[in-house]
Parts: sequence; structure tokens; C-alpha cells
Amino acid sequence: MDQILILDFGSQYTQLIARRLRGLRVYCEILPFNAPVEEMLSRSPKGIILSGGPSSVYDKAAPKPDPAIFTMGLPVLGVCYGMQLMAQVYGGNVSKAAKREYGLGRLKVLKGSRLLKGVSGGINVWMSHGDEVKRAPRGFRVTARAAGSDISAMESPERGLYAVQFHPEVHHTEKGTKILENFARGICRYTERWTPASFLAESVAEIKKRAAGKTVICGLSGGVDSSVAAVLAHKAIGNKLRCIFVDTGVLRHGDRERMKEVFRDKFGYSLKIVDASALFLGRLKGVTSPERKRKIIGHTFIEVFDKEARKVRDAAWLLQGTLYPDVIESVSVKGPSAVIKSHHNVGGLPKKMNMGLIEPLRYFFKDEVRELGRSLKIPEPVLMQHPFPGPGLAIRVLGEVTPDRLKLLREADRLMREEIQAAGWYSKIWQAFCVLLPVRSVGVMGDERSYEYTIALRCVSSVDGMTADWSRLPHDLLQKISARIVSEVRGVNRVVYDITSKPPATIEWE
Ligand code: XMP
Repeated sequence: MDQILILDFGSQYTQLIARRLRGLRVYCEILPFNAPVEEMLSRSPKGIILSGGPSSVYDKAAPKPDPAIFTMGLPVLGVCYGMQLMAQVYGGNVSKAAKREYGLGRLKVLKGSRLLKGVSGGINVWMSHGDEVKRAPRGFRVTARAAGSDISAMESPERGLYAVQFHPEVHHTEKGTKILENFARGICRYTERWTPASFLAESVAEIKKRAAGKTVICGLSGGVDSSVAAVLAHKAIGNKLRCIFVDTGVLRHGDRERMKEVFRDKFGYSLKIVDASALFLGRLKGVTSPERKRKIIGHTFIEVFDKEARKVRDAAWLLQGTLYPDVIESVSVKGPSAVIKSHHNVGGLPKKMNMGLIEPLRYFFKDEVRELGRSLKIPEPVLMQHPFPGPGLAIRVLGEVTPDRLKLLREADRLMREEIQAAGWYSKIWQAFCVLLPVRSVGVMGDERSYEYTIALRCVSSVDGMTADWSRLPHDLLQKISARIVSEVRGVNRVVYDITSKPPATIEWE
């Protein structure tokens, strides 16, 4: 399959380049900046993109690719740091900008550029750089200039070299997608129309080959990723796939039943449902710290899953729904970021179980997994569900998790989701859920004073969960949800709506 390679120099936007290209139906992969040339060539790429990055080309430890990439006969596009690198290699002049440019800038596109074809006049672009190219190397033509006459783009079409100082992959750059399309389709001559489904046959064959007749265990979580991975694997190996679903006791209303209905009743898979709720709730008794809750649930999950998996004879492989962003994270040059919340639900599984991993979704982004799921005829309610954290409702019952509190929250959550779905808002939201606050307040019901719990509604829009904004739900929908919760859920007399974005808040309350 044709592809474009993206070399990662540590920019926070590298993934975005990949997502934009894939959105254009151009298959691409991200490799670390120092990937050996042989590895690149073994993929028969049609072109290479050098990402941005936080370094200066003059830093001692500046990341540098193998210089051979410029002479492999493939078109190369340098973005930001990638442009400065190209300029340096070809003898241009790169130096510190008078001031760090960050945010929107305006530039003027000059005539005759191949890369900027169809992008004329002045455009707004997203900048994020400390260095800049002061003089273009010999043989390069400047194709765009910023207001202060700085060089914003340059190219040398004879050598297949193109560069931009700004970030075409960032949404705020006008015609940014057009620029990436010009590079991939016009310059690299990428003609295929890639879709996630074009991986189907290949993925199925790969799983079959790896499993080599042995049994594969799959931990179905109820989420989109493990569901799609399971359907793919089942296509490859049929009932050599053994699915295990652990009821942790902190699931939402209907989660367990839906898994049974879809995977066992409808698809006919081998699915073992393990009810470990008593064990989980017992261990959570008296625990109030969010991180302790996460750890207990993480360890207990591994323990229960491991015990079940050991009962399966001949099990040699573990199927996991790892997605491309996690794979990129592990190959990229970024440093470790601060741990705000430890997400480690099944991370310890493969190590503990000493099994080989099969990860059929490791080259896909989330939206592509949904697309793939659709082509596999997985029901929409499974594909379109909101992300649900491994520690489940335990981190949405603030303070101690007791069966009574869980029941309250589960019921309120069910009502909220019902109303949001009925109003047609479910698919417009990244996550919508209820949180049970550990405070009671005074209310009046009928003629009586009440002193009961508060439910907070949390609805956010987001692309990847890294940042989020609160959803502007219509007031009458909020009113309906609130009225139903206080009248139908015994023990709740107040409902509030969370109007904080992330950052500074997080999506979950714990
Ligand atoms: P926060 O609350 O950190 O959440 O803004 C970002 C996204 O991650 C989910 N989340 C978790 N997922 N284990 C998970 O598998 C966890 O411990 C966990 N904590 C938060 C959250 O639901 C949101 O989608």
C-alpha cells in the first residue's frame, strides 16, 4: 500500500499531520526522526514530511535525521523545525527570531508555488517557532512571506524539496488541508483512496498468521476499541477467540446486558461473563482517595482476568485494542509528561500473563476504528458510545463507593443518557455522565423538608480527551434531565451543571 512517512521531531502537532492526511484518504505513518533509511525505504513511501519540534537546529542535542532522506529521490516537505533543518542542510541561514512567534500570523503567498497551488493572496496561518530562516539556500525560491517580509515558505521543485514555517496541519491555518493535499496528491502523486476498510483483509490475514492455530484471549471492556478488535479477530480465527468480560460492579446500567446481547446472543462468540462485583466493592470499602480507587480497580481487574484466562486451555495470545496514538506516544521523542491521573487499567496485563500481544488496531485513530466497525456491521450503539473509564462509576461516586451510592448514581446516569439520546444530542457530545457529590443539601419536596444528595451533570465536547469544553446543552433539555432525576431518583434533591473546561478542570471529577 502506498504511504507518506512523517518523521517526528517532537512537535505537539505531529499526530495532527497524520490525522489530516488520513482524512484526505492518504495513508501515512509516523516514524521517529532517526529511523534508519532502510526502514523508510522498506515501506516504499511516496514522500516524507518532517514535523515541527521544540528544538533549535543549533542545539547540541538537536534531533537530526539521516541526511540521505534528502537525496532518496522522494519529495520532502519540512514543517517549521523541518523547514529550518532543510535550510541548514542546504546552506541557508537560520537564526533566532526577534521574538518567539506563537499563534495566528498573516502571510502573503507569492505566485508560481507548486506546494501552495490554489492558495493565493493573504492567509492566516498558525505559527509556533523560535528560530526562522533568514536566507533561503541557493536553488530555493521563496514562495510566501509574512508581514515583516520573513520567509514563510520556500521550495526547490527540481529536487522535490518544499518547506513551510507555519503549521498547515493546525485547524486555524487557512487552506492548511489544501497545502497537505497538494503535497500528497500533486507532488508525491499519491493516487490511492485509502480507507480503514482497505486494511480489513490484511488485518484478518495477519491475525490468522500470528495466532497460528492457538487460542486468543480478548478482554472485552464494552468499549469501541476492544469490540472492533474482537470482531476482526473473530473473522480471522472464529471460536479460537475467547472473550472475557469482567463485571467490576462499577459499570453503568445496561453495560453488561449489552455485551451479552451483542456478542453472545447476536454474534454467537464464546463470551465468559465474570461477575466479580462483590470482590471489587469489598476492596473499595472505606476507600476515598481517587488514586487508591484506581489502583485497587486496576490490580483487581488484572487478578480476576488472569485467573479466568488461565482456565482457557491452549491460550497463547492476548488481543488488545491499542490505538495509534498510544503507539506514537511510545516511539515519539517527547519527554514524559506529568501524571495527573494514572490510567493503568489493563496496562499490566501482558506482562503479568506472559503472553504475546495481538493489536490489530495499532495503526488506527479512534474515528477510523469507528469507520472500520461500521464496515464490520457492529451495531451503532456499540460504536457510538462515549468513552467510559476503566475505574468506571467508582471515580464518579466522589468519596466512598457504597452499593447505595452506586445505585443512586447509576439510576441518575441512566435517566440523563436517555434524555440526551432522545433529544438527539448523544452523538454531538464526547462524554455525558453524572457525578454523585458527597454533599447533602436542604430541599423541599411536597410539604416536607428534605436533606439529600446532589448530582452534577458533566457533558463535554472534545476531540481526544486531552482538552475539552463543556457542552452548551439547551436549557429545556437540562431542565428535563434535572426534573426527572429529582423526581425519579430517591435520595437526590438537587442537580447542578458543570461549566468548566479542561484545562483547568479535568473531564472526570476524580
Ligand atoms: P480526565 O478526567 O483526565 O479524562 O480529563 C480524560 C479521559 O480519560 C478518561 N479517564 C480514564 N480512562 N482510566 C481510563 O481508562 C482512568 O483511570 C481514567 N480517568 C479518566 C475520561 O473518562 C476521559 O475520557
